[in-house]
Amino acid sequence: MATKKIRKAVFPVAGMGTRFLPATKAVPKELLPVVDRPLIQYAVDEALEAGIETMIFVNGRGKGAIEDHFDMAFELEATQAARGKSVAALEGTRLKPGNAVFVRQQEPLGLGHAIWCARDIVGDEPFAIILPDEFMHGAPGKGCMKQMVDAYEQTGGNLICALEVPMEQTPSYGVLDPGAQSGALTEVKGLVEKPAAGTAPSNLIIAGRYVLQPEVMKILETQEAGAGGEIQLTDAMASMIGDQPFHGVTFDGQRFDCGSKAGYIEANLALALEREDIGAHIREFAKKLVG
Ligand code: G1P
Repeated sequence: MATKKIRKAVFPVAGMGTRFLPATKAVPKELLPVVDRPLIQYAVDEALEAGIETMIFVNGRGKGAIEDHFDMAFELEATQAARGKSVAALEGTRLKPGNAVFVRQQEPLGLGHAIWCARDIVGDEPFAIILPDEFMHGAPGKGCMKQMVDAYEQTGGNLICALEVPMEQTPSYGVLDPGAQSGALTEVKGLVEKPAAGTAPSNLIIAGRYVLQPEVMKILETQEAGAGGEIQLTDAMASMIGDQPFHGVTFDGQRFDCGSKAGYIEANLALALEREDIGAHIREFAKKLVG
């Protein structure tokens, strides 16, 4: 199928990170590290791996450190160079000039509103959305967004990452009403944001990754507040179903909900165990710790 290339990704990063206070009082939650890379760096790397060039950050007040993270660290780099030391660890923190765009969401009016704040930068082309606290860990070269962009080249239209969770967790998420399934693809017949307990149409949730057509921005412009009194992206997407193809993609990899403390610790442990430099040490320590 002839599809327009996905060149842009939107990263909503304006949230206050209240679940991680006091850690996130002065440090944006997106800069919390999993081992030694901040969550936002994994998200950007995932987008780059999928061939995406322009990263659009929808940021909020007091979180300018995210912008600094993707800039040159002049003093650090000059000092390390003068000492003959490597700055290889900074690889990936600098995007091509002009490829990191920052817009502000002035008020916390919801995810749908945050995405809408990027409308003029996205323009009239399909785009990706990555929620950095949904940490998706795939095999090298096969990250979640890469898998979604590959699927998009087959299906066109709109895609969300679909993930099975225990039924009792569905009230915390956007939930799919699934249709026919074929391999990793599930047709989406409906979407509901944060369904009341016992009412979810399935246990398949939207796991923080989207490939959407630009028409969603027009819908968001007049989208009324939904669950939690917020303007919901899920509601805007729901009204596109039927007009455009809509599929869920099952991610082949591991998902860590780094919006929760337990998920964040799990991610750190899992990635530490994979590391050549510290993996063996952490494995021994964990064994001793749990007896
Ligand atoms: C958002 C979305 C929801 C999605 C979730 C994934 O909810 O609105 O549809 O399932 O992210 O983490 P939030 O976590 O911002 O409440």
